[in-house]
Amino acid sequence: MIERLRPRIQEIADELIDRVSAAGEMELVSAFAFPLPMTVIAELLGVPVADRDRFREWSTAMVRPALTADEADRADALLTAFVDYLLALFAERREKPGEDLISALVAVEDGGDTLSEEELSSMVAVLIVAGHETTVSLIGNAMLALLTHPEQRSELERDPSLLPRSVEELIRFDGPVERTLNRWAAADVELRGQTIRRGELVIVVLGAADRDPERFEDPDALVLAAERETRHLGFGRGPHFCLGAPLARLEAEIALRHALRRRPASASRSRRRTSAGGLCRSSAASSRCRLPGTPSGAAGRAHLRRDASRRRRRSARGRAAPSSCRRRGRRGTGRA
Ligand code: HEM
Repeated sequence: MIERLRPRIQEIADELIDRVSAAGEMELVSAFAFPLPMTVIAELLGVPVADRDRFREWSTAMVRPALTADEADRADALLTAFVDYLLALFAERREKPGEDLISALVAVEDGGDTLSEEELSSMVAVLIVAGHETTVSLIGNAMLALLTHPEQRSELERDPSLLPRSVEELIRFDGPVERTLNRWAAADVELRGQTIRRGELVIVVLGAADRDPERFEDPDALVLAAERETRHLGFGRGPHFCLGAPLARLEAEIALRHALRRRPASASRSRRRTSAGGLCRSSAASSRCRLPGTPSGAAGRAHLRRDASRRRRRSARGRAAPSSCRRRGRRGTGRA
């Protein structure tokens, strides 16, 4: 099912890289890692892609803890605007349904029961936030890891079939979700000589588990080759296992394939950031990537034209994305 999105995700990645490649360098997060998953989730849900910068602002307000009264007021105002925006969108989809997920959700009826506005807005807000915040950081962290481990990157360039397993190792090595959400023990639990009492707060630090030397040999090394164990906890485990894992894996694989094809030479000005109250971490909140393989000026433009025409031929052959994705850009709520 998710695999059907591949052609459209590839198309978005190509468009984004083409836009910046004549310049010979890109601001990795704002020019590529953010707009890629944001566009994908917006198209799937049926929210206008043109509003993606507003989603970023609302999403940050949802996940960043407010430390002062002013910050709390500002976050409240942003969240109210977010919910108002979603409610207007639901009304519009009820009136004029499309082939997107929001239209399907507003039409849900189960034994005469429908989803309330509150259920709908919290579900869609979580999907928007979870659907991009984490993947943005995964792409940024992964690119930074590859640029700072040139021998591993060369191995991947020599053998691109390593890419899917490399995504797993990159999530293990520097995954974007540092810890689970809060849990409370339902009963007393004995764990390695410690007792966690019923009712006590439990937070699993996924990042630490994924560097556990009892499980991973030389855990601080990035090893993309076949001998590395690929089962990690980066997407959680059990009943709350990440709903979006297949989509995130596909987006990361395509993003890395596309970015590496341009043979980026170096990363500069990369900065580490922890967001969402310590939940998410992003090594590449701002990373500039040099793309020296791309010629600039007239030669660069000719190169881009050749590339674009190759892709048009390829996408004409393999256009299989669902219509909710293909209709990108023609949908509108009148709010953009
Ligand atoms: C690299 C990208 C991603 C990572 C590393 C990631 C990681 C996680 C983790 C660790 C959890 C479990 C949290 C816990 O146990 O407390 C989780 C849950 C969840 N994720 Fe993701 N996620 C990613 C992308 C996505 C995407 C793209 C979507 C949606 C399209 C998504 C939707 C969700 C949802 C809805 C849950 C809650 C599941 C539940 O509680 O039943 N995630 N994710």
